[in-house]
Amino acid sequence: MMTSGKTETAEIGKRVKTVYDVVLEGIQRGEWTTRDKLPSVRAMAERLKVHRLTVMKAYQKLVDDGIVEVKYKSGCFVRGAAAGVTQVDSGVDQPWDYQARKVYTNRSRLADIHRLPVDYQMSEALIDPNLLPNMYMSNYVKQIFDLYPKLLSTYSTVMGDLELRESMAVFFMQKQGITAHADELMITTGSQQAIDLVSRSLVKPGDKVLIERPTYSPAIDVFVQQNIRLIPISITPEGYDLEHLEQVMKREKPRLFYMNPTFHNPTGFTVPAGQRKMLVELAERYQCILVEDDVYHDIYFGDPPPPPLFYYDTEGYVIYIRSFSKYVAPGLRISVLAARPSLMNGIAPVKALADNGTPLLNQKIFQHYFFSSRLQEHVAKLRIALQLRKEKMEQLLAGTGWRWTSPSGGLNLWVQLPDGFPVEKLLARCLELSVAFVPGSICDPLGQIEPWIRLSYSYINELQMEEGIRRLIAAAGELRSC
Ligand SMILES: Cc1ncc(COP(=O)(O)O)c(C=O)c1O
Repeated sequence: MMTSGKTETAEIGKRVKTVYDVVLEGIQRGEWTTRDKLPSVRAMAERLKVHRLTVMKAYQKLVDDGIVEVKYKSGCFVRGAAAGVTQVDSGVDQPWDYQARKVYTNRSRLADIHRLPVDYQMSEALIDPNLLPNMYMSNYVKQIFDLYPKLLSTYSTVMGDLELRESMAVFFMQKQGITAHADELMITTGSQQAIDLVSRSLVKPGDKVLIERPTYSPAIDVFVQQNIRLIPISITPEGYDLEHLEQVMKREKPRLFYMNPTFHNPTGFTVPAGQRKMLVELAERYQCILVEDDVYHDIYFGDPPPPPLFYYDTEGYVIYIRSFSKYVAPGLRISVLAARPSLMNGIAPVKALADNGTPLLNQKIFQHYFFSSRLQEHVAKLRIALQLRKEKMEQLLAGTGWRWTSPSGGLNLWVQLPDGFPVEKLLARCLELSVAFVPGSICDPLGQIEPWIRLSYSYINELQMEEGIRRLIAAAGELRSC
């Protein structure tokens, strides 16, 4: 039987895709890992019973997508995990685009630093447990069991406890003017899980994702796992360059933009109110989902921040992730993900696969504590304590000549050291001195931001801070004089 040219081409395309998928899945399964050589074209053609040309085309596509690389006269190799951060020419005035690939189970580089036990902890953007009302909380936990005697005998629903979601819907309306039905709210196990769920449900390999430069480092690690292309967007004290952002959205058609526009981690910048509505309009125009990570919203030192972008969203282009884990009770790991049904319908099944619902006990404790008057008193005092610690750290750094923009909220100082300063060596020396901080390069999707460090002022008390900063400055002095 004769087949038309069109059908034949479609058939060949299908076979190329099959080979492509076999290799991709093999990489994801670990059959071939970083820097492994793929089978030769001939071997793969025999294995899959296809023509060699088909394999060659599939390999070429894998090269184009940055998943494998060709080594002259040696064959095709799986790109290295570190090589997952490769710049390609984006056609704009600066190199800003790189590909991230799902070639291994990624790890959080930030968690790697946190794992190291130190006495002067300035790498964790966490609040000093002594600043949280621990005694009150533990009494509270006992009362919860009186209220819900069978609490431990049942699951939460996947979306989260209805009582909590209904209370959060009222909270968002009263505090932020945000209208969200309880069905549009999901309780997640921290914002970290929410970012992960979004990355698993809403992007597919090859999609383009915008991400701030610099950004919250584990978000880079999460998206890198999904074999997508990350496109960095700079954030400044004035927000984003909207003209540039529009060009990028127009040309690259990104699937989503992961952003942390309020007391941004690590810089502390806040995207001004004037840009927020425009950002949502851009998202609608170019059909790019905005993933608004709002962890530090309530930790402000002067005026409260502008309304979240989600407030301006009428068409369902914003996913709002609001964590309460930092200042309410980090151990409870409670965060809320708000999204309109079109997006929530994609995210909820992934949450079911992840954990079938955040522990009910945590949700009930959170619910009763969060809506108590005690919490409001606590947050007001906490803001003052954190502001004092920030000011203390700024005083201690004042004589160094290092530079930073004083944040008006959040938990971190983003500090610029002199050009060419060997930050990795500084970290190694500091760890020997029992001091930890975050090197700026891990907050950079391009891994290039060099002489910057993130110092968290929230975890250590003022005495520890004096000693920690003294050691940091001394270590920097040693390296300068080498
Ligand atoms: C910007 C940002 N997003 C998410 C998280 C994770 O928050 P959670 O503790 O709710 O998982 C953090 C924690 O430092 C953060 O800074």
